[in-house]
Amino acid sequence: MNQPMQIESEQPYLEIRGGQTLCGEVRISGAKNSALAIMAGSLLCADECRISNVPSLADIESMGQILTALGVNIVRNGSALEFDGRHLKQAQAPYDLVSQLRASFFVIGPLLARQGEAKIPLPGGCAIGARPVDLHVRGLRAMGAHVIIDHGMVHAQVPGNGRLKGAKIYLDYPSVGATETIMMAATLAQGETIVENAAQEPEVEDLARFCNSMGAKITGAGTNTIVITGVDRLHSTDYPIIPDRVEAATFLIAGAITGSEIIIGPIVPEHLTSAIAKLEAIGPKVIKEGSNRLRLIPGELRATDIETLPYPGFPTDMQAQFMALLTIAEGSSVVSETVFENRLRHVAELKRMGADIKVKGNVAFVKSVPFLSGAPVMATDLRASAALVIAGLAAHGTTIVQGLHHLDRGYEDLEGKFKKIGANLRRVDLKQVANVKL
Ligand code: UD1
Repeated sequence: MNQPMQIESEQPYLEIRGGQTLCGEVRISGAKNSALAIMAGSLLCADECRISNVPSLADIESMGQILTALGVNIVRNGSALEFDGRHLKQAQAPYDLVSQLRASFFVIGPLLARQGEAKIPLPGGCAIGARPVDLHVRGLRAMGAHVIIDHGMVHAQVPGNGRLKGAKIYLDYPSVGATETIMMAATLAQGETIVENAAQEPEVEDLARFCNSMGAKITGAGTNTIVITGVDRLHSTDYPIIPDRVEAATFLIAGAITGSEIIIGPIVPEHLTSAIAKLEAIGPKVIKEGSNRLRLIPGELRATDIETLPYPGFPTDMQAQFMALLTIAEGSSVVSETVFENRLRHVAELKRMGADIKVKGNVAFVKSVPFLSGAPVMATDLRASAALVIAGLAAHGTTIVQGLHHLDRGYEDLEGKFKKIGANLRRVDLKQVANVKL
């Protein structure tokens, strides 16, 4: 373990010296997934609007570039984004930008509702699975859009470039993105749209609240049946994004794995119900401090089983981070990923750190080891990168996490926040061969 090791890295990496106890309070940023959907939703507003508590992230930057390409003028003012979407230039999103960010496909609904036409490149697969858009397309067709998929482009048009028509839509699966696409499209449609088996995630509810703040008529968001009564026009608004429940859970798990008492906030405690239940099943206690903060009291770690599900079930976006924790939780845990088909790629990296995990299909069997050992590891997707950081904080020795572009997509100043509570980590950005002593 103390052999000098050569890391050939032209990309920045995180160097984490594990074993520090953390202490203090972490400020939780605005929710990435809410902000992305709401940015797309801002296209519905033929006026100026403002959203606040927007995290500073690579994904937000990419979505901003797509909106700019469509003709929206965007100004960042601290944590707020100001949009002027009065003069949209075009209905076609550029391929190179959409291919970088799957959520950018969500502009299809608002563009179609506002302009009667949208041309969006198919987002394609991504690291965690194929991620088709059939449910989005079926919903838009049910509302009267003609949708042709040709040469990798989804071309949706309302006949005569008129208005979409309200419809009753049953989703075969409660897809977050499809629910959001249909909900946004329906805000300006003629008549009433009912979405059954809708996604109930807090980010869907946040998007509905944002649309309602512009004059939309949406009820039931946050339940499995959403009713949208179309209106003629939406007006400007000033809307704050909810706190990021995935970031919040990531810090709670970091407290649990390092045996540290930490506080996080602001958060909406109800958004973390399943994560808190699992943490308490594993051993630590999570105590509410006032209305919007949580205190993690560390405890002995015991094995538990996890199955990812649509909300209010256990979130797939927290699976990798919990798996890092379970690697040292006494006993045997079973982690089943049911939402995405390829979301266990962090297993190979955790094994490099000494974890004992076997994978069969989409199920990981985790047997506890007494401790993890620092190692060079590669982030394979956004949440996997957070899992490796968490593992590194608890590991003996030094962990080098590469592939930081994943982390930067979805965590605002992760290393700054960890440093503030006492973690020993730093970002190394060398454009040359580095000698790292492990
Ligand atoms: C959103 C989140 C992502 C989270 C996921 C599930 C954003 C920007 N991203 O992604 O972080 O992990 O919800 O909570 O909000 N599916 C289809 N056909 C479709 C749409 C989806 O088969 O038309 C499938 C997907 O392949 C996947 C499952 O449904 O297996 C869930 O996907 P979905 O809920 O749509 O996730 P996203 O909206 O892409």
